[in-house]
Amino acid sequence: MSKENRLVDTFGRKHQYLRISVTDRCNLRCTYCMPHDGIVWKKKNELLTFEEIIQLAEIFVDMGVDKIRLTGGEPMLRQNLIELVKRLAAIDGLNTLAMTTNATLLADNAQALHDAGLTALNISLDSFQKDKFNAITRRNDFDNVIAGLNAALALDFRALKLNVVVMAGTNDDEILDFADFAFNQRINVRFIEYMPFKDNQWDAKTVVTYQQMKELIEQKYQLTALSNEPSAVAKDFGLSRLDWASGEHLIRQSAGSVSFISSMSDSFCSSCNRLRLTSDGSIKSCLFYPAELSLRDAMRASSSRQEIEELIGRALYLKPEAHPPAEAIMVSDNRTMIEIGG
Ligand code: GTP
Ligand code: 5AD
Ligand code: SF4
Repeated sequence: MSKENRLVDTFGRKHQYLRISVTDRCNLRCTYCMPHDGIVWKKKNELLTFEEIIQLAEIFVDMGVDKIRLTGGEPMLRQNLIELVKRLAAIDGLNTLAMTTNATLLADNAQALHDAGLTALNISLDSFQKDKFNAITRRNDFDNVIAGLNAALALDFRALKLNVVVMAGTNDDEILDFADFAFNQRINVRFIEYMPFKDNQWDAKTVVTYQQMKELIEQKYQLTALSNEPSAVAKDFGLSRLDWASGEHLIRQSAGSVSFISSMSDSFCSSCNRLRLTSDGSIKSCLFYPAELSLRDAMRASSSRQEIEELIGRALYLKPEAHPPAEAIMVSDNRTMIEIGG
């Protein structure tokens, strides 16, 4: 019998998904995520230690979390990450242990992560064109990322997804190439509406909406809605196409699927089930709200388990019903995307 979820906010939303950022550092400089002038990296002693992460993860799982995602910056820059994955995977009651990565360091580590107990992997890739990819990320890691993606495709993760942030005038000409990739490979390609963050070059004109992307893909494929959990941020679709083979029409089904994350045109706050823990140990109840409470400071001040649980309860109490409009997000003193980890 599943245990009672104690992570309920004032709007009745149950939280069973915790995103833990293990570092604020990244080896890429994606224009949509990293401010042009960079950020001040956190010092090592500001970060949660593995012991603190495990202790907090156990408390959250006891309170109702059954899915943890590791994020960054780039999570694989955290030393001994595989050790952390093993320890988290051993927590009783955790069903999904996931990670979101830029895949630059994945080729040599995919197998070890899989064997350590990682069940789900999301890879960020915004262009199949080397020059464009390198321009978006302001680095030269395209070949490493493709090697990482191929290594992941060769393994049997329970879920493997590709995140594409679609930006008008930058990579929207590749939407059909990504749809083709989902048709041919066992992967879920997710087209993400570009979201505003402090200093991230966002402008309303750069957003390509879910409806626009869907209509474009429907010029080539038939999309069939797939069922998903009510709290999922993505709308999922299978693809099929009419083919002509040996004098006959055949309907070919896709190996993978496509999804749309419509944060801007159709936000999903009413069913939000996620909490975030920043790399320096603050709990954040909403991606777009600056309010944070430091669980690290409480732990380092020898707070009791009950006091930590009360702080978590307070963060839930402060969680807003929905995120503010884009214009307000851009000028708020929220952390930058790279410091939150998505
Ligand atoms: P799954 O667990 O596979 O569904 O992944 P996910 O979508 O939770 O995580 P991922 O790290 O792959 O994030 C994909 C995109 O969704 C990124 O652009 C995130 O910034 C965005 N995203 C994740 N969580 C939230 C959220 O709570 N609110 C909003 N608006 N966007 C989110
Ligand atoms: N809008 C939408 N998605 C973003 N991501 C980073 N910045 C943005 C943004 N401004 C995505 C990354 C990664 C995930 C954690 O968040 O592509 O896949
Ligand atoms: Fe949840 Fe905030 Fe994201 Fe809305 S914007 S889905 S409330 S984290």
